[in-house]
Amino acid sequence: MYILGIETSCDETSASVMTDEFEILSNVVLSQDEIHAPYGGVVPELASRQHITSIGYVVDESLRRAQLKLGEIDVYAVTQGPGLIGSLLVGLSFAKGLAYCFEKPLIPVDHLEAHVQSAFLENRSISFPALALLVSGGHTCIFLLKERLNFQLIGRTRDDAAGEALDKIAKFLDLGYPGGPIIDKLSKEGNPKKYAFALPHMTDKSLDFSFSGLKTAALRKIKENKITKNHADFLDFLASFEKAVIRALISNMDQAVKKFEPKSLILCGGVAKNKKLRKDFGQFSKKLLLSSFMPSPEFCTDNAAMVAALAVEKLKSGEKPFLSLDLNAYPRFTLS
Ligand code: KG4
Ligand code: ZN
Repeated sequence: MYILGIETSCDETSASVMTDEFEILSNVVLSQDEIHAPYGGVVPELASRQHITSIGYVVDESLRRAQLKLGEIDVYAVTQGPGLIGSLLVGLSFAKGLAYCFEKPLIPVDHLEAHVQSAFLENRSISFPALALLVSGGHTCIFLLKERLNFQLIGRTRDDAAGEALDKIAKFLDLGYPGGPIIDKLSKEGNPKKYAFALPHMTDKSLDFSFSGLKTAALRKIKENKITKNHADFLDFLASFEKAVIRALISNMDQAVKKFEPKSLILCGGVAKNKKLRKDFGQFSKKLLLSSFMPSPEFCTDNAAMVAALAVEKLKSGEKPFLSLDLNAYPRFTLS
């Protein structure tokens, strides 16, 4: 059986062909970074327009690499939400059109659940219960997974996402877009202890995150110390800010581990590409004697292989796919 997954929730147009044994036959990702870079962030209308231009080519290329024809696809899968509504509608309409034309079922998938599934692409033997830390440009949350498809949201950001905070500070310092990978690269030369940032705390002891306070503190330090690219402490500042973001992430995971006593830990989402976060997350898990799972960098940022994988898992769990012509996209969280 062949599954074609499509992902267009934000600024990556992606298509992937997978077998029902989770073998990835292709995973084509076309990034729009160059289009949004001059604006320092994703411009929703430009994103939708670029998806509509690229989607046909990207799907075609995914089939070419898988050496298959459209008529050989058995099931379609597509990201339904959350994400930018105009972007989601491009992928959803395209997938619906294909399913309708070829009279094949279409499985809608949740973008956040798909990110968590990316950890299973290269590891099938993750023990449950597992705690998954999902850190991206749009979301920062912790899920408790009692089983592979049983998601319980136990913490989420109340304001900015971690990736968004990194991107905004990079934009303020005129470093380019997306800022996360740029800070990742530059900060390795800096001293993370040079600037102290307070750890954000929830007064209600919840496992929620907040990154807007950290971002405001960073902006204040930039102004007070006149930090620019030419400042002697520039790299130290970036390393200190990155460390503060990582500490906030791991501190909440630490509380979550104490509360839920998982058997394994998952790190996923675009920010999971960050080298220091990967290292610290690995050390944190090791200290707790828990196994940790992090997808390879190519599966951390938005990609359609994770969409196809979630669809295959749903099929295996007995979900009966069908083509619902009234299927719609949703911009926000639906998980609880
Ligand atoms: O998962 P993703 O592709 O899209 C969303 O669903 O949001 O994540 C994109 C985010 C951006 O904020 C980007 O700056 C961040 O992931 N990112 C990184 C790195 N690579 C991407 N952040 C830190 N270090 C990186 N190496
Ligand atoms: Zn994403």
